[in-house]
Amino acid sequence: MRASIQQTVSILNDGGIVAVPTETVYGLAARLDRENAIKNLFQIKGRPSNNPLIIHLADASQITLFTKDLPDQFDLLTKTFWPGAMTLVVPVDTSTILNPVRADLPTAAFRIPKHPLALEVIRQSGPLVMPSANISGRPSSTTPEHVESDFGSEFPVLDGGKCENGLESTILIYQAPLWKIIRLGALSAENFIPVLGYAPAFISHHAESTPLCPGQLYQHYSPKAKLLLSKTFPENKQGVIIGFSDKDYSKNYRVIPFGPRSSPKQVARNLYASLRKLDEEFIEMAYVDIDFPSEGLWRTILERLKKAAFVNTP
Ligand code: TXA
Ligand code: MG
Repeated sequence: MRASIQQTVSILNDGGIVAVPTETVYGLAARLDRENAIKNLFQIKGRPSNNPLIIHLADASQITLFTKDLPDQFDLLTKTFWPGAMTLVVPVDTSTILNPVRADLPTAAFRIPKHPLALEVIRQSGPLVMPSANISGRPSSTTPEHVESDFGSEFPVLDGGKCENGLESTILIYQAPLWKIIRLGALSAENFIPVLGYAPAFISHHAESTPLCPGQLYQHYSPKAKLLLSKTFPENKQGVIIGFSDKDYSKNYRVIPFGPRSSPKQVARNLYASLRKLDEEFIEMAYVDIDFPSEGLWRTILERLKKAAFVNTP
């Protein structure tokens, strides 16, 4: 069910949940100060309670409501990348944020989204928590139809069309003296070089005894279909390939295009829709063409595909 901005704000103010578009993926929004709504969020997503939520703000100065203790270069990062696809994890005054939001951690994650509809809703209803609008484990939603397919056609969705980035925000945490990436996302490590003077390292959860980004522990982004990641497709075989729109494959294969090899942005934008298409068409097995470079946005795309295909990598 499509909701107007006014309906969205009034559902949120009444302690309800609405799917809201952001430039990364759709979020399931609840007000930060509504404990029951937050409990329901975990329940309807099937989300483990030890996986904390991102707090979405409309204005960077709102961060002072939650913490006075901001890490080095916080202002520089937020002035450059907010509004946008960057989430920062910082130590907070825990009395200012409900426990379930932080999953009992002494830190919280913050982001200012760029989408005008998300910003308008936050301006009217105050800070919102917004996990991605998918059943836990499924690919994130990048269209209203994806949200409705996971939560039913009666579920309220503020329609912002197709998401611009199609991948979640990049999450960083400060470990003196450096910022580190704890979730790869729509901004690549290279995007931070002009600002930080270095490309932040990605710390995968496999490297940590105490997970820095609890959400990364769980299986993610998977369609029901079995995925086989490959760079070559033998002429004498057949099947479905999620692959490039500008590449020739053997006629034995049906190709679901996720964009041209020249544009990681387009591939990112279509990635989850192409994974979801497999299930929409009851396709049980598909190849995914991973014959692409390893840097920039491609790194995030490969990491998501590996998780979707249950390939364990450090
Ligand atoms: O692009 C996005 O970030 C989207 C849109 C809707 O804004 N949201 C999103 O939320 O991806 P979610 O809940 O699907 O992923 C949030 C991630 C989880 O992996 C969680 O573990 C991590 O953020 N996170 C949240 N708070 C954290 C904290 N205090 N420390 C470490 N990781 C945290
Ligand atoms: Mg998610």
